[in-house]
Amino acid sequence: MSAILVAVDGPQAAEWPGLLRAHAKGREVRVWPDGSGNAADVAYACVWLPPRGLLAGLPNLKAIVNLGAGVDRLLTDPTLPNVPIARVAHPDLTMRVVEYVVLHVLMHHRRQRTSDAPQRARLWRVNGQPAASEVAVGVMGLGAIGAAAASALVRLGFQVAGWSRTPKTLDGIAAFHGAAGLDVFLARTEILVCLLPQTPHTVGLLNLALFRKLKRNGAAAGAFLINAGRGALQVDADILAALDERTLMGATLDVFPQEPLPPESPFWMHPKVTVTPHNAGDISPGAFARDVIAQIERFERGLPMDNLVDRGRGY
Ligand code: NDP
Ligand code: OXD
Repeated sequence: MSAILVAVDGPQAAEWPGLLRAHAKGREVRVWPDGSGNAADVAYACVWLPPRGLLAGLPNLKAIVNLGAGVDRLLTDPTLPNVPIARVAHPDLTMRVVEYVVLHVLMHHRRQRTSDAPQRARLWRVNGQPAASEVAVGVMGLGAIGAAAASALVRLGFQVAGWSRTPKTLDGIAAFHGAAGLDVFLARTEILVCLLPQTPHTVGLLNLALFRKLKRNGAAAGAFLINAGRGALQVDADILAALDERTLMGATLDVFPQEPLPPESPFWMHPKVTVTPHNAGDISPGAFARDVIAQIERFERGLPMDNLVDRGRGY
């Protein structure tokens, strides 16, 4: 039976191989960077941030399973073999990012950071707070994760809009799409949540010109940014400028053009910025390993894999 190569970078690297073996019914599961075995035996690669060129060295590769949602790093490997790529769109990952979005939307909405200094100064200072129903949140990206996040925000009572590439109809959400829909979407959005993939069309999208189009005279008392999509979408200097000129009143950033965020970044100590270390969402390998093997088995039965990546679109 054809072998599976597991090539995972990051904290889950040690966990994946055993879990995949447990479901692989005796099929050989090899682990990068252990170079043993004939590369020609490998038909499937299960990867997260594999080194560039690794997959090009597998002459009989038939399919790739990306063990995360975003495929930007994978697709920028110029040597990537032209085989189908399936990615993660799984409730475990989706719900973790939804939690993150809800946490940070509520943090800005409830003006939680403005209580930090009074607390340290032992001051009992009460902040006025609007109702969620008075505040407009806009979610960029209405895919597996963005649509779920937008729905959770609707359930909390916010006025929710979404923006995607193609038209959508979603309960309770004002949906906008494409370049033509962007400005209207921004003009009604106070808390902007970015859950877009990194593609040639989205890189640099979160810039000063875009922030200046957000609604700043609403109940939220200014505009806020939450980016949990990809770092390359944001222009760091423009976020800082927007905070300085009060176009943005606060930002939560989970992703950065350079990760880990360098120690000298002004974001670390900025009073209006909350930094998280690209941990909005994680997949529990234990919750997903069976699905990975199921994807491979579907492929072998001649069925299409779920959540196939469209290389032309870039996600
Ligand atoms: P999906 O592919 O399901 O959804 C992507 C959404 O973005 C779709 O609604 C798509 O529109 C929209 N989109 C893509 N390009 C454009 C564009 N040019 N203009 C407008 N809309 C666009 O992805 P997921 O929801 O699963 O994940 C989204 C991203 O979240 C991932 O790619 C990854 O970068 C990030 N992520 C980050 C995590 C973290 O820990 N910070 C964890 C998991 C994911 P349409 O529906 O019309 O195709
Ligand atoms: C992902 C991520 O894309 O964790 O899955 O960033």
